[in-house]
Amino acid sequence: MTTKYRVEYALKSHRRDGFIEWIKGLLAVPFILHSEPAAYIQRVESWEDATTTTRQQYAAIMRDIEQLIADSIANDTNGTPYLAKLRHLVPSVGRFFTHLPMEQAFYIEDTKRAISCRRLVSPSFNDVRLILNTAQVLSLSAGPEPLRLVTLDGDVTLYEDGKTLTHDSKVIPVLLELLKRDVAVGIVTAAGYGDPSGTKYKERLEGIIVAVHDSQELLPKQKRNLLVMGGESNFLFRFSVDSGTLVYVDPEEWILPEMKAWDEDDIQSLLDLAEEVICSCKEVMNLNGEIIRKDRAVGIVPLPDKKMIREDLEEVVLGAQRRLEFSEVGRKLHFCAFNGGSDVWVDIGDKRLGVLALQKYLGNISGNQTLHVGDQFASIGANDFKARLAACTVWVADPSETVEALQQLRMFIDMAHEPGS
Ligand code: IMP
Ligand code: MG
Repeated sequence: MTTKYRVEYALKSHRRDGFIEWIKGLLAVPFILHSEPAAYIQRVESWEDATTTTRQQYAAIMRDIEQLIADSIANDTNGTPYLAKLRHLVPSVGRFFTHLPMEQAFYIEDTKRAISCRRLVSPSFNDVRLILNTAQVLSLSAGPEPLRLVTLDGDVTLYEDGKTLTHDSKVIPVLLELLKRDVAVGIVTAAGYGDPSGTKYKERLEGIIVAVHDSQELLPKQKRNLLVMGGESNFLFRFSVDSGTLVYVDPEEWILPEMKAWDEDDIQSLLDLAEEVICSCKEVMNLNGEIIRKDRAVGIVPLPDKKMIREDLEEVVLGAQRRLEFSEVGRKLHFCAFNGGSDVWVDIGDKRLGVLALQKYLGNISGNQTLHVGDQFASIGANDFKARLAACTVWVADPSETVEALQQLRMFIDMAHEPGS
């Protein structure tokens, strides 16, 4: 058993989300008790009662989780985080910036996904992930303080991996709607192009830049609320009404004190160390990749028409993470090692710093007024995970889920502002 446990841990712990797995486990009990192994052999009407009972029991579990989250927030506020029951039950759980209406979100998702109607398939990781997303969006739209900043990852969140944000993208109208409601939109991407002309960002984000430029509805100050933080937390660009496009913002205007203290020699030795690990992996595993070194990052990308398999990419990322974590320089700086799906990168800085810098630059926006939308929330080897330390989050699987989550957000904001609501 011990060996099996350790193998499972070594192989999978970095890909699991402790909180989601724990919720799945709780929902599995009513599912099993009301599963109908004989379902479909009988007529469907004969198990309608089971659906009603299961729905009530799932909802009761969600209500209890909601209270545990409230207890966590209360203990954080009182300076007694160690007393939070949820932290004892799920030690890996993060900090909650807002309450989460889990029961209400469950009913919304149950209507869409027929979770409690299923007799043979238990509530899944994706069911729980989407319930949490909906709860987060509901809570932000009606919170005591208004939502002020939505940050979005690029690849897989705004556009398909390695692609661009084109004019016909369905996410553009909903981003414009957020800007119209005085919510700033920051694209916080790992893609790092340090060139102050911003040419590469302008190419990849052309759809939204042109849409903001052309908009007749947005006020100039709302247009200026479109920003891009590149290289995790290294390069900031902002839409300029005068230039009609993105312009580079001098780091002096936005850099956080903790980043200012970083020494350039330390930065380069961290990247040297990361490059050494990536190089050895490339040789030992005979990877079809090419190593790329930048000022603030080092990575391995596939050779033209070649592919590196997921397992090998994970080996590289876990290897780099481990080597850096145990190094002196790795303890001095913040870095982010992640598997981008077809490549692996080690960046200086991370999305926690990227989101915090934007919050500060835009006038000290707090975590409970910020939402980060991303696709990479595994605990190791994923780059959106760190944003959880600075903001509320929504975890999407592809760009269509981003559109859905933002449309839902806009709808809930409008409902919360309707007279009499
Ligand atoms: P994100 O999903 O928007 O954070 O972008 C991640 C992807 O950006 C990676 O998978 C890479 O393909 C690409 N990329 C390009 N330049 C860099 C870099 O300097 N660091 C990390 N990723 C980069
Ligand atoms: Mg991504």
